[in-house]
Amino acid sequence: MKILVTGGAGFIGSAFVRMALDEDTAWRVVNLDKLTYAGNLENLAGVSESPRYRFVRGDIADGGAVMRLFAGEKPDAVVHFAAESHVDRSILSPEPAVRTNLYGTFCLLEAARVHQTPLFLHVSTDEVYGSLEEPLEADENFPLQPSSPYSASKAGSDLLALSYGKTFKLPVIVTRASNNYGPYQFPEKLIPLMISNAMEDKPLPIYGDGMQVRDWLFVDDHCRALLAVLDKGRAGEIYNVGGSLALPNKEVVRRILAATGKSESLMRYVADRPAHDRRYALSSEKVMRETGWAPRMPFDEGLALTVRWYRENIDWVRHVKSGEYMQYYERNYAHREP
Ligand code: NAD
Ligand code: DAU
Repeated sequence: MKILVTGGAGFIGSAFVRMALDEDTAWRVVNLDKLTYAGNLENLAGVSESPRYRFVRGDIADGGAVMRLFAGEKPDAVVHFAAESHVDRSILSPEPAVRTNLYGTFCLLEAARVHQTPLFLHVSTDEVYGSLEEPLEADENFPLQPSSPYSASKAGSDLLALSYGKTFKLPVIVTRASNNYGPYQFPEKLIPLMISNAMEDKPLPIYGDGMQVRDWLFVDDHCRALLAVLDKGRAGEIYNVGGSLALPNKEVVRRILAATGKSESLMRYVADRPAHDRRYALSSEKVMRETGWAPRMPFDEGLALTVRWYRENIDWVRHVKSGEYMQYYERNYAHREP
C-alpha cells in the first residue's frame, strides 16, 4: 500500500505520517509538501531515514508537477492535508487559501481521476458548518455556512471532491474534524500560541469576550480516526470527527495558565476576529458507528502532555518563531491592542 500524503510536514500531516509508518509495516508514504511557513521537516526527523518514506517538495497547485508525481508513484490512496490552515491569515490575505485549498485540491483530484487512484481521502474541517446556536450539533447533512475565506475555501474543496465521486466515480471520502491540538502545532493557533506566550511571560491575546466555543480533539485521536476511515469508511461519504469536548476559549486559556504555572494577569482581551464563529459543535456518531473509532485522550491530560512537549522543545519553538512569524504576529496583533 503506497499512500500519497499531502501537507505531511505540517502539524496533523506529520503526526499522520509518523503514525502510519509506525502502525503498518507494509505501508509506504510519499509526502508532497511545499514547505510553506507551516511546513517543517523537523517534524519528521524520526521517519526521514525510513526506506518506506519519501519526501517530495512541491506545490499541490502546480497541476503539471502533481500529474507527473501521480504518474511516477501511482499511489493506492491519497490522504490530502495540504492547506493554508489558519483563519486569521486567510483574513489578512485570502489569496493563498483560495489558491491552495481550492485550486490545489482540484489539481490533486484531476491527477487522481486521470490515474484512477483507488481512494482519495480529503481532510476537512467542522468550520464548513459555520457557527451553531445552542443546542444544535452538526451532523454530516448539516448546511454549509462558512464564515471566513479559509472555511469557505475548505467548503468549496469538499464539494469539489464530492463532485469527483459523483461525476467521475473517483472513490472520495471527506472527513471534517474539530479543533486539533498537540505537539508540533504551529504557534499561530490558540493553544500553542498561548502556551508559548505564557512560557515567555508575554500577554495572551483573547479575541472578543473569549466565550467562543470550540470542540478540542487531540491530534493522535484525529489521525487514528483517519486510519479507521481509510480502513472502513465508505466511498462517497462524509465523516465528522470531533473530540466530544467543548470549551469556551477563556477556559482553555485559564487551563493553559494553570498548566504552565503562570498568572491569569497575562490574559488580555483584544479586538475580535471579523466574522468570528461563536460556537462549533459536531456529532461524530457516524464515524463511531461505522468504524468503531472514539477519541481517547482526556483534554487535561492532552494539554499537560502538550505543555510538556513545548517546554522540552524550546529549540523547535524558537526556530519556528523566528523571521516570518514575528512579522505575522505584528500584522495580526498590533492593531488589536485595547
Ligand atoms: P498546517 O498549517 O500545520 O500544515 C499545512 C501543511 O501543508 C504544511 O506542511 C504546508 O507546508 C503544506 N502546504 C501548504 N500549502 C501547500 C501547497 N500549496 N502545496 C503543498 N503543500 C502545502 O495545517 P494542519 O493544522 O496540520 O491542517 C492540516 C489539514 O487538516 C488542513 O487541510 C486543515 O484544513 C485540516 N484541519 C485542521 C484542523 C486543525 O485544528 N488544525 C482541524 C480540522 C481540519
Ligand atoms: O475547527 C477546526 C479548525 O480549527 C481548523 O479547520 C483550522 O485549520 C484551525 O486553525 C482551527 O480554526 P480556529 O479558528 O477555530 O482555530 P484558532 O486556533 O485560530 O482559534 C481557536 C479559537 O481561539 C477561535 O475562537 C479564535 C480564538 N483565538 C485564536 C487566536 C489565535 C483567540 O482568542 N486568540 C488568538 O490569538
